[in-house]
Amino acid sequence: MSARAVRFYDEHPSPATLRDEVLQGLGAHPKRIAPKFFYDERGSRLFDAICELPEYYPTRTEMAILRGCAPEIRQLAGPNCMLIELGSGASRKIRLLLETLRPRRYLGIDISREFLLESVERLAQDYPWLEVHAACADFSRNLDLPDCHGTERKLAFFPGSTIGNFEPYEALAFLQHIRRLLQPDGALLVGVDLKKDPQILHRAYNDNQGVTAAFNLNLLERLRSELGAKLDPRVFRHRAFYNAKAGRIEMHLVSQHAQEICIDGRRFRFKAGESIHSENSYKYSVAEFHALARRAALQPVRVWLDPERLFSVHYLSVAAACPPYIL
Ligand SMILES: C[S@@+](CC[C@H](N)C(=O)[O-])C[C@H]1O[C@@H](n2cnc3c(N)ncnc32)[C@H](O)[C@@H]1O
Repeated sequence: MSARAVRFYDEHPSPATLRDEVLQGLGAHPKRIAPKFFYDERGSRLFDAICELPEYYPTRTEMAILRGCAPEIRQLAGPNCMLIELGSGASRKIRLLLETLRPRRYLGIDISREFLLESVERLAQDYPWLEVHAACADFSRNLDLPDCHGTERKLAFFPGSTIGNFEPYEALAFLQHIRRLLQPDGALLVGVDLKKDPQILHRAYNDNQGVTAAFNLNLLERLRSELGAKLDPRVFRHRAFYNAKAGRIEMHLVSQHAQEICIDGRRFRFKAGESIHSENSYKYSVAEFHALARRAALQPVRVWLDPERLFSVHYLSVAAACPPYIL
């Protein structure tokens, strides 16, 4: 069977959106830029390299969980669903589910246009029986599904603990929005990183090869290449630490000395040691995440953990009447 053509829907955020959000974030106190802006083509490749690092346990742990639970997911979701992957990146984890689930359609959604296109083309070639759609869109801005679905049940897949990049109030609004998209009988399968020994977290975000540092610093390269920012990335350092009180990893780009950077005629002053807060990665206990899901009117049906309790994969149902909860 030859591969079917991928249907592509392009709602790529415009350079004006990047500029507006960056200027607003750098004008705030403390300075910040949303982590979604890490992901240009180089940023996506660097994230892919992070997934291979020995220190970065989330990817291999989530993949091992998915390998084990695929048959149960098939039982819960049934065959012929529409599978919607949010932040699909390399579309690697979905491969662990496709043969078992046998969905009717797949829709990959990601902000990183070229990387998304390359990944879904490979997927369409490797699974010629699958109808593959892709949308380049920002899912943090009232995502709408392209007109490519029928009446089949929708199963959304949101791996990689990307949900941890949202502030908890944003994660709630996001879950509520996704719930509306999955009406009336859909479900959400979501990977969530668990609270754990801060040393394990520290190592995962401060790898020996400096790939995470390069990923963080790439944000500054992007400001230079896409917004014409006048700045020297070598004057910034990567910093990542666990903020125990907030329950999150924080990533920062720290200015090594006092300086000014200039974007679009606007000047932003940095004191020595001042940073741009570039990412939060919230960690949740199972109980905390269930409470969040229930507030979004999503029903926890099943959660799978690895033996070391590093990572969790949750199956949340839209329907009020769903099978009894199983741990
Ligand atoms: C942490 S990576 C996870 C990648 C992959 N799903 C995995 O589990 O390894 C986050 C992914 O979500 C995408 N992403 C981040 N923010 C996004 C947004 N606001 N809208 C759409 N995609 C986004 C990134 O481009 C990236 O592919």
